[in-house]
Amino acid sequence: MIKSRIQIVEGDITQMSVDGIVNAANSRLAGGGGVDGAIHQAAGVEQLQQACRQYDGCPTGQVRSTPAFNLPAQRVLHTVGPVWQGGQAGEAELLRSCYQSTLELAVQEQLKSLAFPAISCGVYGYPHEEAARIAITTVAEWLKTSPSPDKIIFVLFSQPMVDIYRRIFREVAEK
Ligand code: APR
Repeated sequence: MIKSRIQIVEGDITQMSVDGIVNAANSRLAGGGGVDGAIHQAAGVEQLQQACRQYDGCPTGQVRSTPAFNLPAQRVLHTVGPVWQGGQAGEAELLRSCYQSTLELAVQEQLKSLAFPAISCGVYGYPHEEAARIAITTVAEWLKTSPSPDKIIFVLFSQPMVDIYRRIFREVAEK
């Protein structure tokens, strides 16, 4: 049952005791503000930056993983969302690819529980409603055909964002 495998909560993703948390990173994997900054702080800035340096950055829509160091999670999956440019620059496909490639990597790494933030919904300016629809439909489609990950948690930083996700989740679940 897909419904029971998706959870939508308000919270700080750095505090999630799950197998993997997803970071909304930049293409240099250099750390930054927002959720990226919070994850680096909580994991240990030096250690996480050093782990990220094994990669030559990460293209938009793709994902790279590192240990989670001081975080309660086991792994950090760094994905790079698109910068919103008005919607005609392939943003939707790139955002879908973030969720899709992260789910693929989570399965490869045998992560049973995975927490996503609202990728691209901060500094990168993606309209929240549209981003939430992509997040939920991509994850729901995945879970229909894959037994893994067992649990997906959307961890959102504000109540209005939780309300958007819950409303869209109901729409998608009713279909
Ligand atoms: N836990 C969960 N969500 C959080 C947290 C947190 N601790 N901190 C911020 N958020 C939320 C924001 O409120 C927003 O809804 O994460 C969402 C994504 O916002 P950003 O972190 O700004 O990510 P994004 O829009 O993808 O921009 C990425 O920001 O910091 C830089 O290095 C990062 O350049 C990259 C860009």
